[in-house]
Amino acid sequence: MTATVLNQRHDAVRGLISGQHMLLTCRGLRRVVAGQNILDVERLELERGRTYLLSGSNGAGKTSLLRVLAGLDEARCKQFLFDGVEIDLANYPRRMRSKLGFVHHHPMMFSTSVTDNIAFGLRAAGMSRPEVRRRTDEAIEWADIGSLANRPPQALSAGEKQRVALARAHALDPAMYLLDEPTANLDENGRVLVTHLIDIIAREGRTLLIACHDRELLSLDGVVRLHMRDGHLEGVA
Ligand SMILES: Nc1ncnc2c1ncn2[C@@H]1O[C@H](COP(=O)(O)OP(=O)(O)OP(=O)(O)O)[C@@H](O)[C@H]1O
Ligand SMILES: [Mg+2]
Repeated sequence: MTATVLNQRHDAVRGLISGQHMLLTCRGLRRVVAGQNILDVERLELERGRTYLLSGSNGAGKTSLLRVLAGLDEARCKQFLFDGVEIDLANYPRRMRSKLGFVHHHPMMFSTSVTDNIAFGLRAAGMSRPEVRRRTDEAIEWADIGSLANRPPQALSAGEKQRVALARAHALDPAMYLLDEPTANLDENGRVLVTHLIDIIAREGRTLLIACHDRELLSLDGVVRLHMRDGHLEGVA
């Protein structure tokens, strides 16, 4: 059994013992940019181990919500609890960054190699060289991207980039994944491969919040659908 699977079981058991079914609870979330209220979410509760699809039309606030949860953009929040711990969003703690894996729609990568891009985040997290090597190798095997390992990222297709970005996030073993339109604009083959990896993450017991368009809802089992409109969360679609 891999360390990742053991960690996940440990998390799940810890959550059940402490009665924390909710991984994330957030109340009264607001983000104002240039006088415009782009996020106004009364309540968001995400259960541990569930997959949530966040749909909504262009400009509804999907990316903004993911970025705020990942600590990339500022917002005000009356209450924000993650894994039972109260978090000050205005003062986003560093340790939270490794717990939430944000994957951009167009993932940014250094023009070195795929392997180096995966290793970078691990080094930045302060891991030892052997640990970085072990996790990088594991992530490449996990995503089945061995054939891409030595390729320069700028030579990858959109689908290949998305798989590398998922491997890079997976290497850090976050409790929650925030995926921004992971399959948008991919061809059929790319969509199938990326969806397969997302499905594996869900089966590993991780929590996922995935932004996607109404017309492109991912076909995954047992998902909870959330819908956004004009910065508001409208609940199950
Ligand atoms: N930094 C910013 N400055 C000004 N307005 C912003 C900024 N970020 C987002 N917005 C505005 O907030 C609203 C929500 O944008 P957001 O990108 O979150 O929507 P979205 O649901 O992800 O849309 P899409 O489906 O096009 O990706 C839009 O009206 C957008 O123009
Ligand atoms: Mg968006």
